[in-house]
Amino acid sequence: MRDYEPYYTEDGSIGLYSYAEKDVFHSKYGALTEAWEKFVIPSGIDNLNKNNIKVLDICYGIGYNTKALMSFIINKNRKKKQNFLIKILKKFYTCTTHIVSICANKLLKKTLRLSLHIDAIEDDNLSASIDCLELNEELVKLSPLFKTIKTPEEIYYNLVPKFLNCFDTYYSAKNLFVNIMSKFAPKNRKEINELLEIKFKNMHIDSEYKIHSYVNYILLNALYEKFGSGYWDNEFKKMVTKGKNRRFFDKPLIKYAQFNQNWGYNSSSKHDLSTFLHNIYYHHLSKRDKNIKFKTAMSLFKLNFFVDDARKSILKLNEQYDLIFLDAFTYTKAPQLWSTEFIAELYKRLAPSGVLLTYSNSVLVRNTLLENGFYVGKIYNEKNKKFIGTIASKDKTKIKHPLDNYELGLCATKAGIPYHDPNLSFDNKDILELREYEFRHSSLMSSSKYMKIRSLDNE
Ligand SMILES: C[S@@+](CC[C@H](N)C(=O)[O-])C[C@H]1O[C@@H](n2cnc3c(N)ncnc32)[C@H](O)[C@@H]1O
Repeated sequence: MRDYEPYYTEDGSIGLYSYAEKDVFHSKYGALTEAWEKFVIPSGIDNLNKNNIKVLDICYGIGYNTKALMSFIINKNRKKKQNFLIKILKKFYTCTTHIVSICANKLLKKTLRLSLHIDAIEDDNLSASIDCLELNEELVKLSPLFKTIKTPEEIYYNLVPKFLNCFDTYYSAKNLFVNIMSKFAPKNRKEINELLEIKFKNMHIDSEYKIHSYVNYILLNALYEKFGSGYWDNEFKKMVTKGKNRRFFDKPLIKYAQFNQNWGYNSSSKHDLSTFLHNIYYHHLSKRDKNIKFKTAMSLFKLNFFVDDARKSILKLNEQYDLIFLDAFTYTKAPQLWSTEFIAELYKRLAPSGVLLTYSNSVLVRNTLLENGFYVGKIYNEKNKKFIGTIASKDKTKIKHPLDNYELGLCATKAGIPYHDPNLSFDNKDILELREYEFRHSSLMSSSKYMKIRSLDNE
């Protein structure tokens, strides 16, 4: 954590800046919003004809992509149940109106059919098996502990229902409230604001983009399963409770983690139990109903963490994934995760109608995908009417916005020359030099010349 600087991004979620990479892990406009808009929503998860999906999250970091996906799944199952309840009420209504004409025998049969239907819907839950690949163990362990602050806008919507927003006064009242409340919102350090040119005043997030309250608890349980008592040591405890960045961590989650450590994995400290029971179970999971809901949500996920270079981890995996999230640092900083050879490994592991998503719009990345046999397209953001990433699939029908002729032509220029990493073992410097050599000796047209010719053609 010493090498990273946490900061609040515009949607109230925390982003990290890496001093070593001199790069941000997350968009300053919203770490969580980015996870939804570049990965979860464009993945088409809403229309998958499958109940159990297999997901590969490459460069898990502090887990926003996985967390957003898990939230989507929990909410989707909950909505399905709500819809189902409405259906039952409707059925009940129809039953009662016909009750006079239906004999007891028939009614019994109908009830029987209804209860069978309930079971069918319960079995119908969407669930996911998620393999998370990340090099940095510390980040993986910290991932569930980061908090997301409530934005002033969110607080306002909790107080005043949205349906009033047809009135002008609603907007002025909202703006006034947001302006006042933002004065009290936690602030970034001045230096990081200057370094990253963060200028925002009023934080904003769409409520449907929130992380579901169970997600971090589920992740914590999965991490305890992986690391056991090694999840937490004194130094880790100091970092999250006393270190200079402690304000970025969620206190109840830290208590829950401590509870797991002391009770679940170190039975010698059972004397702490009463305190932890009070703090955690009372506030979070104590009520029977909540506990059942939590357990049901937990059963929807199988989480595996592979803490190593993704090039090594990928070779250990033999799944066919429905979704692959590729969220590596930009290609000049992490060329090893954009090389032809690494992408070829992803091609092998993508299910026939699966999709691979990345935030990158670069010509090099798109051409590497094309050369590996993918159909390649752009991720379109309805909200700001912009293309914000790249989607690839073996199934042409999964690509809603294919690359146009101009973009395909650009991919065939020198700018599209891919990285090579034979045996998936080169270091960054060698991969960059190898491409540089190929670039200098290539007979392909330069991208600038291509753009000039195409603009002349259009005149
Ligand atoms: C842009 S950040 C990803 C952010 C992440 N998706 C999140 O939600 O926080 C890139 C991540 O790649 C990890 N990384 C860098 N090189 C790696 C490698 N060779 N294998 C696996 N992970 C790597 C870094 O530690 C960093 O967490």
